[in-house]
Amino acid sequence: MTTTESSSTLSAAGTLEAELERLLSVESFPPPADFVRRVPYEADAAAAAADPVAFWADKARELLDWDTPFTKVLNDENPPFYKWFEDGTLNVSANCLDRHVAAGRGDKVAYYWAGEEGERKVVTYADLLEETQRLANGLRSLGVGPGDVVGIFLPMIPQVAVAMLACARIGAVHNVVFGGFAPSAVRERMEVSEAKVLITVDGARRKGRTAPVKAAVDEEKMGDLPSLEHIIVVEAVGAAGLGGQRAPMTPGRDIWYEELIAAADPVCPPVAMSAEAPLFILYSSGSTAKPKGILHTTGGYLLGAAYTHRTVFDLDPETDIYWCSADVGWITGHSYIVYGPLANGATSVMYEGAPDYPDYDVWWKLIAEFKVTIFYTAPTAIRACMKWGAEYPARHDLSSLRVLGTVGEPINPKAWLWYHLVIGGGRCPIVDTWWQTETGSIMISPVPGVTSTKPGSATRPLPGISPALLTEDGQPLAAGTGVLVITKPWPSMLRTLYRDDERFVQTYFSRFGPTTYLVGDAARLDPDGYFWIIGRIDDVINVSGHRLSTAEVESAIVAHEAVAEAAVVAQADEQTGQAIVAFVTLAGDRVGDDAMVAELREHVATKIGKLARPKRVIWADDLPKTRSGKIMRRLLRDIAEGRALGDVTTLRDPAVMAALAAKVAAAGPED
Ligand code: WT7
Repeated sequence: MTTTESSSTLSAAGTLEAELERLLSVESFPPPADFVRRVPYEADAAAAAADPVAFWADKARELLDWDTPFTKVLNDENPPFYKWFEDGTLNVSANCLDRHVAAGRGDKVAYYWAGEEGERKVVTYADLLEETQRLANGLRSLGVGPGDVVGIFLPMIPQVAVAMLACARIGAVHNVVFGGFAPSAVRERMEVSEAKVLITVDGARRKGRTAPVKAAVDEEKMGDLPSLEHIIVVEAVGAAGLGGQRAPMTPGRDIWYEELIAAADPVCPPVAMSAEAPLFILYSSGSTAKPKGILHTTGGYLLGAAYTHRTVFDLDPETDIYWCSADVGWITGHSYIVYGPLANGATSVMYEGAPDYPDYDVWWKLIAEFKVTIFYTAPTAIRACMKWGAEYPARHDLSSLRVLGTVGEPINPKAWLWYHLVIGGGRCPIVDTWWQTETGSIMISPVPGVTSTKPGSATRPLPGISPALLTEDGQPLAAGTGVLVITKPWPSMLRTLYRDDERFVQTYFSRFGPTTYLVGDAARLDPDGYFWIIGRIDDVINVSGHRLSTAEVESAIVAHEAVAEAAVVAQADEQTGQAIVAFVTLAGDRVGDDAMVAELREHVATKIGKLARPKRVIWADDLPKTRSGKIMRRLLRDIAEGRALGDVTTLRDPAVMAALAAKVAAAGPED
């Protein structure tokens, strides 16, 4: 069934709630009858089903410009070290910029940039190309060459795309760190990747305030890192934004971005890179405290990003205005703000700001202003908007929208229906896109106008992608719940963990052998062949679609001098999907009071970033451990979520659990 109610009617008190309730019983939503698909799909599906490798080869020729055409498509001689298009050469920035400009589309808008105080900037493909070439030459003048790592720690400003593309232009490998991470996390990532240059900003604005980013970076003594030779600083807020003083600069080491590009030659021919040359590293959380440096390469990655961006969002670069609300610091931003959209010659909106500043309607205002046709966001954001109320979107004309997307975590059916009715006016297909930093591009998703959607299901694999469910001992499952794997290589898959092939094999290709990629998620397959992602099977917590490792948060907490021991678990959370709960044992006679909770949360914020702060801290005299000393997180999850306690017989001291449970129960419900 399809609905046609407009959001304004639905915002009437009671009507929306009743409609949501009614639709909760609808299992499947066929493609809206009047949705006109612009990108052909059926031929791809048929070709990929017949021969996935030949399908990818065709798409690589169709969607990308090659300097040297490849003759080999897939090299699978040494799994899991797969190679795609290995004898072909191309340049990612040339595919994202030069070819569009050469085709006479230099004046086409690449980004409509919006700042939170109402600032606007229009960046065309020709603008991007010129600044990218200048920065590429600037980087070269600092000694950066092919294979060198360049760190990028920038807010959502157009320069972040320029920085990434400038690296790609000269074969340098970028390592973007999410702007919300603490400078100490930036330092760690620069150190382990041996970055030669860091590109950052003087200050970043958020909700009317300015964070002095460069000064904070300096506090981490980044200059002490032996590999780091230079810090390039974008002057985004200037002295006016920083209380009258420009950002501190160390002569000889620090360079203003604006001065570097002004002095640089505006012409920098793109370097033809091997399809298998590293394009970027992106650190992501895993089961241990040490983040994993996920490595993506040139040809396969760009193909995955371009193909899926076009197919999943039904992109028509001539008419669509596309907006992905993610941050460039995550893989979603890499693939669906920078590389996919630019490779496809799309026009995007880039927004530097929060969804609730200056008011709760700012996103909807932007959609109306730019006449956004495709909007891609996260379930956690949709749930926040639901809480604020349908009156905010109702203030704006959202009729330009035609496709809506979500990513990052399972979406609960009620949020899906709210998105469908209130934002999509009942007429826009919703693509619930499942993928990971490791997969590089979307793997399982509805195709608008083609796939019937079921709220909460990412539905079916895209052409050329082969997911499957296995039992714990590796038996294939035709339906039911199991461990999600991918059984065939795909072009945009990670190639390794940076300088750690062993951990790469161990993490993803040891449990079921070297040709079966272990995703790390559990999923259910329904009788229609639809995948329903359940969640992580490892010690990874998904807070608002952000991946955090329990071990990483624990090690940050125990680094506090008052803490003896800590165990971190996830608790289901209505707003953020999952929330972090920390069980903490204090050292000596330290007292667990509210002030200590605040102190620990702040401590975690400075070690990792605000997003890793525990929502709840539970003081424990002791933690439940097995006889071999392993903390039983399963039991802690039961306590955190108020469930009856599971089997405690394997514990060294079962009384620990009873004491802890009694304590949490006595404290009453969480704040
Ligand atoms: C993990 C990957 C891919 C960009 C954002 C996160 C979860 C992602 C969905 C979805 C259910 C999802 C999985 C996955 N996830 N998309 N549509 N439905 N779960 O990238 O940080 O690498 O995290 O996010 O658990 O393994 P990431």
